[in-house]
Amino acid sequence: EKASIGVTGLAVMGRNLARNLARHGYRVAVHNRTPQRTRDLVDRFGSEGEFVPAYSAEAFVAALSRPRQIVVMVKAGAATDAVIDEFAELLEPGDVLVDAGNAHFADTRRREAALRERGLHFVGTGVSGGEEGALHGPSIMPGGSAESYRTLGPLLEDIAAKVDGTACCAHIGPDGSGHFVKMVHNGIEYSDMQLIAESFDLLRGALGYEPAQIAEVFRTWNTGRLDSYLIEITAEVLAHTDAETGRPFVDVVADQAEQKGTGRWTVQTGLDLGIPISGIAEATFARSLSGHAVLRAAARDLAGPPRTPLSGSSAQRFADDVEQALYASKVVAYAQGFGQIRAASEEYGWNIDLGSVAAIWRGGCIIRAKFLDDIRAAFAADPAQPTLLTSGEFRKALEEAQDAWRSVVSTAVRLGIPTPGLSTALAYYDGVRAPRLPAALVQAQRDYFGAHTYRRVDKEGTFHTEWAEPSRPERRVDQP
Ligand code: 6PG
Repeated sequence: EKASIGVTGLAVMGRNLARNLARHGYRVAVHNRTPQRTRDLVDRFGSEGEFVPAYSAEAFVAALSRPRQIVVMVKAGAATDAVIDEFAELLEPGDVLVDAGNAHFADTRRREAALRERGLHFVGTGVSGGEEGALHGPSIMPGGSAESYRTLGPLLEDIAAKVDGTACCAHIGPDGSGHFVKMVHNGIEYSDMQLIAESFDLLRGALGYEPAQIAEVFRTWNTGRLDSYLIEITAEVLAHTDAETGRPFVDVVADQAEQKGTGRWTVQTGLDLGIPISGIAEATFARSLSGHAVLRAAARDLAGPPRTPLSGSSAQRFADDVEQALYASKVVAYAQGFGQIRAASEEYGWNIDLGSVAAIWRGGCIIRAKFLDDIRAAFAADPAQPTLLTSGEFRKALEEAQDAWRSVVSTAVRLGIPTPGLSTALAYYDGVRAPRLPAALVQAQRDYFGAHTYRRVDKEGTFHTEWAEPSRPERRVDQP
Protein backbone atom coordinates (compact mmCIF):
# COMPACT_ATOMS: atom_id res chain seq x y z
CA GLU A 1 0.00 0.00 0.00
CA LYS A 2 1.31 3.40 -0.96
CA ALA A 3 1.57 6.42 1.34
CA SER A 4 -0.88 9.28 0.83
CA ILE A 5 1.69 11.94 1.65
CA GLY A 6 5.41 12.22 2.27
CA VAL A 7 7.54 14.50 4.42
CA THR A 8 11.18 15.20 3.63
CA GLY A 9 13.35 17.12 6.06
CA LEU A 10 12.90 15.54 9.47
CA ALA A 11 14.29 18.13 11.84
CA VAL A 12 11.82 18.80 14.62
CA MET A 13 9.24 20.75 12.54
CA GLY A 14 9.18 18.19 9.72
CA ARG A 15 9.18 15.29 12.15
CA ASN A 16 6.27 16.72 14.10
CA LEU A 17 4.25 17.40 10.95
CA ALA A 18 4.84 13.81 9.85
CA ARG A 19 3.76 12.54 13.28
CA ASN A 20 0.67 14.75 13.22
CA LEU A 21 -0.30 13.31 9.81
CA ALA A 22 0.31 9.74 10.98
CA ARG A 23 -1.69 10.33 14.15
CA HIS A 24 -4.57 11.39 11.94
CA GLY A 25 -4.52 8.04 10.20
CA TYR A 26 -2.52 8.93 7.09
CA ARG A 27 0.16 6.62 5.82
CA VAL A 28 3.20 8.90 5.73
CA ALA A 29 6.40 8.34 3.79
CA VAL A 30 9.34 9.90 5.59
CA HIS A 31 12.70 10.88 4.19
CA ASN A 32 15.74 12.84 5.26
CA ARG A 33 19.04 13.64 3.56
CA THR A 34 20.92 11.92 6.35
CA PRO A 35 19.15 8.58 6.91
CA GLN A 36 19.77 8.47 10.65
CA ARG A 37 16.99 10.99 11.26
CA THR A 38 14.55 8.81 9.32
CA ARG A 39 15.49 5.73 11.32
CA ASP A 40 15.29 7.71 14.51
CA LEU A 41 11.76 8.91 13.76
CA VAL A 42 10.51 5.39 13.07
CA ASP A 43 12.30 3.99 16.14
CA ARG A 44 10.94 6.57 18.51
CA PHE A 45 7.52 7.33 17.11
CA GLY A 46 6.72 4.40 14.82
CA SER A 47 3.93 3.25 17.11
CA GLU A 48 1.99 6.48 16.60
CA GLY A 49 0.84 5.58 13.10
CA GLU A 50 1.88 4.23 9.73
CA PHE A 51 5.25 5.50 8.59
CA VAL A 52 7.00 4.36 5.44
CA PRO A 53 10.70 5.11 5.88
CA ALA A 54 12.56 5.83 2.64
CA TYR A 55 16.33 5.99 2.42
CA SER A 56 16.68 7.53 -1.00
CA ALA A 57 14.75 10.18 -2.94
CA GLU A 58 13.79 7.53 -5.51
CA ALA A 59 12.42 5.14 -2.89
CA PHE A 60 10.57 8.02 -1.26
CA VAL A 61 8.86 9.04 -4.50
CA ALA A 62 8.06 5.39 -5.32
CA ALA A 63 6.35 4.99 -1.94
CA LEU A 64 3.72 7.64 -2.70
CA SER A 65 0.29 7.23 -4.30
CA ARG A 66 -0.65 9.53 -7.20
CA PRO A 67 -0.91 12.42 -7.36
CA ARG A 68 2.14 12.39 -5.14
CA GLN A 69 2.18 14.95 -2.34
CA ILE A 70 5.47 15.82 -0.74
CA VAL A 71 5.94 18.24 2.13
CA VAL A 72 9.40 19.78 2.15
CA MET A 73 10.54 21.05 5.53
CA VAL A 74 14.10 22.24 5.12
CA LYS A 75 15.91 25.51 5.72
CA ALA A 76 14.65 28.41 3.57
CA GLY A 77 16.94 29.47 0.72
CA ALA A 78 19.52 27.31 -1.04
CA ALA A 79 18.60 24.12 0.83
CA THR A 80 15.01 24.44 -0.36
CA ASP A 81 16.11 25.02 -3.96
CA ALA A 82 18.33 21.94 -3.83
CA VAL A 83 15.51 19.71 -2.58
CA ILE A 84 13.06 21.10 -5.12
CA ASP A 85 15.52 20.51 -7.98
CA GLU A 86 16.10 16.95 -6.84
CA PHE A 87 12.39 16.07 -6.59
CA ALA A 88 11.29 17.97 -9.69
CA GLU A 89 13.34 15.44 -11.67
CA LEU A 90 11.57 12.49 -10.10
CA LEU A 91 7.96 13.71 -10.04
CA GLU A 92 5.36 13.53 -12.79
CA PRO A 93 2.76 16.04 -14.02
CA GLY A 94 -0.02 16.55 -11.48
CA ASP A 95 2.21 15.84 -8.47
CA VAL A 96 2.31 18.36 -5.63
CA LEU A 97 5.42 19.70 -3.91
CA VAL A 98 4.72 21.61 -0.70
CA ASP A 99 7.27 24.00 0.80
CA ALA A 100 6.27 24.35 4.44
CA GLY A 101 9.30 26.39 5.52
CA ASN A 102 9.45 30.15 6.02
CA ALA A 103 10.38 30.95 2.40
CA HIS A 104 10.34 34.46 0.98
CA PHE A 105 7.18 34.81 -1.11
CA ALA A 106 9.17 36.07 -4.10
CA ASP A 107 11.16 32.82 -4.09
CA THR A 108 7.90 30.91 -3.90
CA ARG A 109 6.53 32.82 -6.90
CA ARG A 110 9.65 32.00 -8.88
CA ARG A 111 9.61 28.32 -7.90
CA GLU A 112 5.89 27.96 -8.55
CA ALA A 113 6.23 29.42 -12.03
CA ALA A 114 9.16 27.15 -12.87
CA LEU A 115 7.44 24.00 -11.65
CA ARG A 116 4.15 24.91 -13.31
CA GLU A 117 6.03 24.86 -16.64
CA ARG A 118 6.77 21.21 -15.89
CA GLY A 119 3.17 20.40 -14.95
CA LEU A 120 3.94 20.21 -11.22
CA HIS A 121 2.02 21.99 -8.49
CA PHE A 122 4.20 23.94 -6.12
CA VAL A 123 2.50 24.95 -2.90
CA GLY A 124 4.27 27.45 -0.68
CA THR A 125 2.57 27.17 2.66
CA GLY A 126 2.89 29.04 5.89
CA VAL A 127 2.87 26.85 9.00
CA SER A 128 2.75 28.55 12.36
CA GLY A 129 2.72 27.32 15.91
CA GLY A 130 6.27 26.19 16.48
CA GLU A 131 7.15 22.60 17.36
CA GLU A 132 4.11 22.01 19.54
CA GLY A 133 1.79 23.41 16.90
CA ALA A 134 3.27 21.22 14.18
CA LEU A 135 2.54 18.19 16.34
CA HIS A 136 -0.82 19.07 17.86
CA GLY A 137 -2.36 21.39 15.29
CA PRO A 138 -0.74 24.37 13.62
CA SER A 139 -2.30 27.21 11.68
CA ILE A 140 -1.69 26.46 8.01
CA MET A 141 -1.62 29.02 5.18
CA PRO A 142 -1.24 27.27 1.81
CA GLY A 143 -0.84 29.14 -1.46
CA GLY A 144 -0.55 27.51 -4.89
CA SER A 145 -3.15 26.35 -7.38
CA ALA A 146 -6.78 25.73 -6.46
CA GLU A 147 -6.38 22.30 -8.04
CA SER A 148 -3.60 21.32 -5.65
CA TYR A 149 -5.78 22.34 -2.70
CA ARG A 150 -8.49 19.88 -3.75
CA THR A 151 -6.30 16.91 -2.85
CA LEU A 152 -3.98 18.51 -0.31
CA GLY A 153 -6.51 20.69 1.51
CA PRO A 154 -8.43 17.94 3.31
CA LEU A 155 -5.22 16.49 4.79
CA LEU A 156 -3.97 19.88 5.92
CA GLU A 157 -7.34 20.80 7.39
CA ASP A 158 -7.34 17.51 9.27
CA ILE A 159 -4.04 18.18 11.00
CA ALA A 160 -4.61 21.91 11.59
CA ALA A 161 -5.77 23.46 14.85
CA LYS A 162 -9.54 23.76 15.24
CA VAL A 163 -11.51 26.69 16.60
CA ASP A 164 -15.23 26.13 17.13
CA GLY A 165 -14.88 23.05 14.95
CA THR A 166 -13.40 25.05 12.07
CA ALA A 167 -9.94 24.15 10.81
CA CYS A 168 -7.25 26.83 11.02
CA CYS A 169 -6.30 26.17 7.43
CA ALA A 170 -7.67 27.66 4.22
CA HIS A 171 -6.46 28.08 0.67
CA ILE A 172 -5.02 31.60 0.69
CA GLY A 173 -4.64 32.11 -3.06
CA PRO A 174 -2.25 31.42 -5.96
CA ASP A 175 1.55 31.11 -6.00
CA GLY A 176 3.33 33.01 -3.19
CA SER A 177 0.23 34.21 -1.34
CA GLY A 178 0.50 31.62 1.44
CA HIS A 179 4.07 32.52 2.24
CA PHE A 180 3.20 36.20 2.02
CA VAL A 181 0.46 35.81 4.59
CA LYS A 182 2.80 33.81 6.85
CA MET A 183 5.41 36.55 6.51
CA VAL A 184 2.93 39.21 7.63
CA HIS A 185 1.83 36.89 10.44
CA ASN A 186 5.41 36.96 11.66
CA GLY A 187 5.63 40.73 11.24
CA ILE A 188 2.53 41.09 13.40
CA GLU A 189 4.10 38.61 15.82
CA TYR A 190 7.11 40.95 16.13
CA SER A 191 4.79 43.87 16.77
CA ASP A 192 2.68 42.03 19.35
CA MET A 193 5.81 40.91 21.19
CA GLN A 194 7.32 44.38 21.20
CA LEU A 195 4.11 46.00 22.48
CA ILE A 196 3.89 43.45 25.27
CA ALA A 197 7.54 44.01 26.14
CA GLU A 198 7.06 47.78 26.26
CA SER A 199 4.03 47.32 28.52
CA PHE A 200 6.15 45.24 30.86
CA ASP A 201 8.89 47.87 30.84
CA LEU A 202 6.36 50.59 31.64
CA LEU A 203 4.77 48.71 34.51
CA ARG A 204 8.19 48.15 35.93
CA GLY A 205 9.63 51.60 35.26
CA ALA A 206 6.60 53.70 36.16
CA LEU A 207 5.17 51.62 38.99
CA GLY A 208 8.23 49.81 40.27
CA TYR A 209 6.52 46.41 39.94
CA GLU A 210 8.56 43.23 40.09
CA PRO A 211 8.31 40.74 37.19
CA ALA A 212 6.21 38.35 39.30
CA GLN A 213 3.68 41.13 39.99
CA ILE A 214 3.61 42.02 36.32
CA ALA A 215 2.97 38.36 35.54
CA GLU A 216 -0.20 38.71 37.64
CA VAL A 217 -1.23 41.80 35.70
CA PHE A 218 -0.78 39.93 32.40
CA ARG A 219 -2.72 36.99 33.77
CA THR A 220 -5.61 39.29 34.53
CA TRP A 221 -5.40 40.88 31.09
CA ASN A 222 -5.46 37.42 29.60
CA THR A 223 -8.99 36.93 30.89
CA GLY A 224 -10.24 39.92 28.87
CA ARG A 225 -10.02 41.24 25.34
CA LEU A 226 -6.24 40.74 25.26
CA ASP A 227 -6.71 36.98 25.74
CA SER A 228 -3.96 35.50 23.57
CA TYR A 229 -1.16 32.99 23.46
CA LEU A 230 1.55 35.66 23.61
CA ILE A 231 0.08 37.30 26.73
CA GLU A 232 -0.26 33.87 28.32
CA ILE A 233 3.36 32.86 27.71
CA THR A 234 4.53 36.31 28.79
CA ALA A 235 2.93 35.75 32.20
CA GLU A 236 4.66 32.37 32.43
CA VAL A 237 8.04 33.83 31.52
CA LEU A 238 7.69 36.70 33.99
CA ALA A 239 6.67 34.37 36.80
CA HIS A 240 9.70 32.18 36.22
CA THR A 241 12.66 32.40 38.61
CA ASP A 242 16.17 31.53 37.45
CA ALA A 243 17.23 28.36 39.25
CA GLU A 244 20.89 29.31 39.41
CA THR A 245 20.66 32.85 40.76
CA GLY A 246 17.19 33.02 42.26
CA ARG A 247 16.62 36.19 40.26
CA PRO A 248 13.62 36.80 37.99
CA PHE A 249 14.42 34.84 34.85
CA VAL A 250 13.79 37.85 32.61
CA ASP A 251 16.61 39.68 34.39
CA VAL A 252 19.24 37.08 33.59
CA VAL A 253 18.48 36.93 29.86
CA ALA A 254 20.74 39.17 27.75
CA ASP A 255 18.67 42.07 26.46
CA GLN A 256 19.44 41.54 22.77
CA ALA A 257 16.56 40.25 20.63
CA GLU A 258 17.50 38.31 17.55
CA GLN A 259 15.59 37.62 14.36
CA LYS A 260 15.72 35.20 11.50
CA GLY A 261 14.37 37.52 8.84
CA THR A 262 10.62 37.29 8.37
CA GLY A 263 10.03 40.57 10.22
CA ARG A 264 12.66 42.26 8.11
CA TRP A 265 11.04 40.89 4.94
CA THR A 266 7.67 42.20 6.08
CA VAL A 267 9.11 45.68 6.51
CA GLN A 268 10.99 45.58 3.20
CA THR A 269 7.85 44.45 1.41
CA GLY A 270 5.79 47.10 3.16
CA LEU A 271 8.16 49.73 1.80
CA ASP A 272 7.96 48.23 -1.69
CA LEU A 273 4.18 48.24 -1.63
CA GLY A 274 4.06 51.73 -0.09
CA ILE A 275 2.04 50.55 2.90
CA PRO A 276 2.83 52.20 6.24
CA ILE A 277 3.39 49.28 8.57
CA SER A 278 5.12 51.43 11.14
CA GLY A 279 4.23 49.14 14.06
CA ILE A 280 6.00 46.17 12.52
CA ALA A 281 8.88 48.36 11.39
CA GLU A 282 9.46 49.81 14.87
CA ALA A 283 9.29 46.34 16.38
CA THR A 284 11.92 45.13 13.94
CA PHE A 285 14.13 48.18 14.52
CA ALA A 286 13.74 47.78 18.28
CA ARG A 287 15.29 44.31 17.94
CA SER A 288 18.12 45.76 15.85
CA LEU A 289 18.74 48.54 18.36
CA SER A 290 18.90 46.04 21.20
CA GLY A 291 21.60 44.10 19.39
CA HIS A 292 23.95 47.06 18.85
CA ALA A 293 26.11 46.56 21.91
CA VAL A 294 28.78 49.09 20.92
CA LEU A 295 26.24 51.81 20.18
CA ARG A 296 24.45 51.16 23.44
CA ALA A 297 27.65 51.14 25.47
CA ALA A 298 28.69 54.45 23.92
CA ALA A 299 25.32 56.08 24.54
CA ARG A 300 24.73 54.69 27.98
CA ASP A 301 25.62 57.81 29.91
CA LEU A 302 23.52 60.24 27.85
CA ALA A 303 21.35 62.32 30.14
CA GLY A 304 17.76 61.33 30.79
CA PRO A 305 14.98 62.47 33.09
CA PRO A 306 14.70 61.22 36.68
CA ARG A 307 12.78 57.96 36.82
CA THR A 308 10.47 58.85 39.66
CA PRO A 309 7.78 56.19 39.85
CA LEU A 310 4.16 57.33 39.63
CA SER A 311 2.19 57.73 42.82
CA GLY A 312 -1.36 58.43 43.91
CA SER A 313 -4.27 58.21 41.51
CA SER A 314 -2.13 58.18 38.38
CA ALA A 315 -0.34 55.12 39.72
CA GLN A 316 -3.64 53.44 40.45
CA ARG A 317 -4.91 54.07 36.98
CA PHE A 318 -1.68 53.28 35.22
CA ALA A 319 -1.92 49.51 34.75
CA ASP A 320 -5.39 49.91 33.33
CA ASP A 321 -4.18 52.70 31.04
CA VAL A 322 -1.38 50.47 29.79
CA GLU A 323 -3.93 47.76 29.00
CA GLN A 324 -5.82 50.26 26.88
CA ALA A 325 -2.69 51.54 25.15
CA LEU A 326 -1.58 47.99 24.43
CA TYR A 327 -4.97 47.02 23.05
CA ALA A 328 -5.24 50.13 20.87
CA SER A 329 -1.71 49.70 19.54
CA LYS A 330 -2.43 46.08 18.77
CA VAL A 331 -5.47 47.10 16.74
CA VAL A 332 -3.23 49.48 14.78
CA ALA A 333 -0.61 46.77 14.14
CA TYR A 334 -3.23 44.37 12.82
CA ALA A 335 -4.90 47.07 10.75
CA GLN A 336 -1.53 47.78 9.18
CA GLY A 337 -0.73 44.11 8.58
CA PHE A 338 -4.09 43.39 6.99
CA GLY A 339 -3.65 46.53 4.90
CA GLN A 340 -0.39 45.14 3.64
CA ILE A 341 -1.97 41.79 2.77
CA ARG A 342 -4.73 43.58 0.89
CA ALA A 343 -2.20 45.68 -1.05
CA ALA A 344 -0.20 42.59 -2.06
CA SER A 345 -3.37 40.77 -2.99
CA GLU A 346 -4.24 43.59 -5.37
CA GLU A 347 -0.70 43.88 -6.69
CA TYR A 348 -0.36 40.17 -7.47
CA GLY A 349 -3.99 39.36 -8.26
CA TRP A 350 -4.31 36.92 -5.35
CA ASN A 351 -7.88 37.71 -4.35
CA ILE A 352 -7.20 36.98 -0.67
CA ASP A 353 -10.17 36.80 1.67
CA LEU A 354 -8.98 38.81 4.68
CA GLY A 355 -11.74 37.46 6.92
CA SER A 356 -10.57 33.95 6.20
CA VAL A 357 -6.98 34.89 7.07
CA ALA A 358 -8.19 36.24 10.43
CA ALA A 359 -10.22 33.06 10.95
CA ILE A 360 -7.28 30.70 10.46
CA TRP A 361 -5.12 32.79 12.80
CA ARG A 362 -7.59 32.26 15.64
CA GLY A 363 -5.91 29.01 16.62
CA GLY A 364 -2.65 27.13 16.26
CA CYS A 365 -0.38 30.04 15.41
CA ILE A 366 1.83 32.22 17.58
CA ILE A 367 -0.45 35.28 17.31
CA ARG A 368 -3.59 33.30 18.10
CA ALA A 369 -5.96 35.44 20.10
CA LYS A 370 -9.58 35.95 20.91
CA PHE A 371 -9.28 39.30 19.21
CA LEU A 372 -8.84 37.63 15.80
CA ASP A 373 -12.44 36.51 15.89
CA ASP A 374 -13.44 40.18 16.08
CA ILE A 375 -11.27 40.88 13.04
CA ARG A 376 -12.84 37.97 11.19
CA ALA A 377 -16.29 39.34 12.01
CA ALA A 378 -15.31 42.85 10.93
CA PHE A 379 -14.17 41.66 7.50
CA ALA A 380 -17.17 39.37 7.17
CA ALA A 381 -19.45 42.35 7.78
CA ASP A 382 -17.61 44.60 5.33
CA PRO A 383 -14.87 42.96 3.24
CA ALA A 384 -14.01 46.20 1.42
CA GLN A 385 -13.52 48.47 4.45
CA PRO A 386 -10.42 50.60 3.93
CA THR A 387 -9.16 50.06 7.49
CA LEU A 388 -10.03 48.04 10.55
CA LEU A 389 -9.66 51.18 12.66
CA THR A 390 -13.06 52.51 11.66
CA SER A 391 -14.96 49.27 11.81
CA GLY A 392 -17.68 49.18 14.51
CA GLU A 393 -16.22 47.66 17.65
CA PHE A 394 -12.65 48.70 16.90
CA ARG A 395 -13.60 52.32 16.34
CA LYS A 396 -15.38 52.30 19.67
CA ALA A 397 -12.47 50.67 21.50
CA LEU A 398 -9.92 53.06 19.99
CA GLU A 399 -11.98 56.13 20.77
CA GLU A 400 -12.45 54.94 24.33
CA ALA A 401 -8.76 54.08 24.68
CA GLN A 402 -7.25 57.21 23.20
CA ASP A 403 -7.05 59.26 26.41
CA ALA A 404 -5.32 56.44 28.28
CA TRP A 405 -3.10 55.77 25.27
CA ARG A 406 -1.93 59.40 25.16
CA SER A 407 -1.37 59.43 28.87
CA VAL A 408 0.75 56.26 28.75
CA VAL A 409 2.86 57.55 25.88
CA SER A 410 3.39 60.88 27.63
CA THR A 411 4.34 59.14 30.86
CA ALA A 412 6.84 57.08 28.88
CA VAL A 413 8.28 60.22 27.30
CA ARG A 414 8.42 62.01 30.62
CA LEU A 415 10.19 59.13 32.40
CA GLY A 416 12.44 58.36 29.44
CA ILE A 417 11.13 54.83 28.91
CA PRO A 418 11.43 53.92 25.23
CA THR A 419 8.10 52.90 23.71
CA PRO A 420 8.64 52.90 19.94
CA GLY A 421 5.76 50.48 19.34
CA LEU A 422 3.12 52.21 21.46
CA SER A 423 4.24 55.65 20.24
CA THR A 424 4.29 54.86 16.55
CA ALA A 425 0.85 53.24 16.79
CA LEU A 426 -0.55 56.41 18.34
CA ALA A 427 1.18 58.55 15.70
CA TYR A 428 -0.44 56.38 13.02
CA TYR A 429 -3.84 56.79 14.64
CA ASP A 430 -3.40 60.56 14.73
CA GLY A 431 -1.90 60.54 11.23
CA VAL A 432 -4.75 58.77 9.49
CA ARG A 433 -7.41 60.79 11.29
CA ALA A 434 -5.77 64.18 10.65
CA PRO A 435 -7.87 66.37 8.36
CA ARG A 436 -4.69 68.05 7.07
CA LEU A 437 -1.17 66.70 7.20
CA PRO A 438 2.08 68.64 6.94
CA ALA A 439 2.65 66.55 3.83
CA ALA A 440 1.53 69.75 2.08
CA LEU A 441 4.70 71.45 3.28
CA VAL A 442 6.86 68.49 2.26
CA GLN A 443 5.37 68.61 -1.21
CA ALA A 444 6.01 72.38 -1.39
CA GLN A 445 9.63 71.85 -0.32
CA ARG A 446 10.01 69.27 -3.06
CA ASP A 447 8.72 71.74 -5.58
CA TYR A 448 11.12 74.41 -4.29
CA PHE A 449 14.34 72.48 -4.62
CA GLY A 450 13.53 70.01 -7.35
CA ALA A 451 10.59 71.36 -9.37
CA HIS A 452 8.74 68.20 -8.37
CA THR A 453 5.36 69.99 -8.76
CA TYR A 454 2.24 69.86 -6.59
CA ARG A 455 -1.53 69.73 -6.83
CA ARG A 456 -3.80 72.34 -5.28
CA VAL A 457 -6.76 71.92 -2.98
CA ASP A 458 -8.89 74.38 -4.94
CA LYS A 459 -8.49 73.44 -8.59
CA GLU A 460 -7.53 70.61 -10.92
CA GLY A 461 -4.09 70.26 -12.43
CA THR A 462 -0.42 69.95 -11.59
CA PHE A 463 1.52 73.10 -10.75
CA HIS A 464 5.02 74.44 -10.26
CA THR A 465 6.09 77.71 -8.70
CA GLU A 466 9.16 79.49 -10.13
CA TRP A 467 10.81 79.91 -6.73
CA ALA A 468 13.89 81.59 -8.19
CA GLU A 469 11.89 84.50 -9.54
CA PRO A 470 11.16 87.26 -7.02
CA SER A 471 7.44 87.32 -7.84
CA ARG A 472 7.14 83.49 -7.46
CA PRO A 473 4.89 83.00 -10.47
CA GLU A 474 2.90 79.74 -10.62
CA ARG A 475 2.51 77.72 -13.82
CA ARG A 476 0.22 74.85 -14.60
CA VAL A 477 2.51 72.13 -15.96
CA ASP A 478 0.17 69.31 -16.96
CA GLN A 479 -1.16 71.10 -20.02
CA PRO A 480 0.73 71.95 -23.20
C1 6PG B 1 5.58 30.62 13.96
C2 6PG B 1 6.81 31.42 14.26
C3 6PG B 1 8.01 30.76 13.64
C4 6PG B 1 9.32 31.24 14.18
C5 6PG B 1 9.62 32.66 13.82
C6 6PG B 1 10.62 33.29 14.72
O1 6PG B 1 4.71 31.20 13.35
O2 6PG B 1 5.53 29.47 14.35
O3 6PG B 1 6.66 32.70 13.72
O4 6PG B 1 7.90 30.91 12.26
O5 6PG B 1 9.37 31.03 15.53
O6 6PG B 1 10.10 32.65 12.52
O7 6PG B 1 11.08 34.40 14.08
P1 6PG B 1 12.37 35.16 14.50
O8 6PG B 1 13.43 34.14 14.72
O9 6PG B 1 12.65 36.06 13.36
O10 6PG B 1 12.01 35.86 15.77
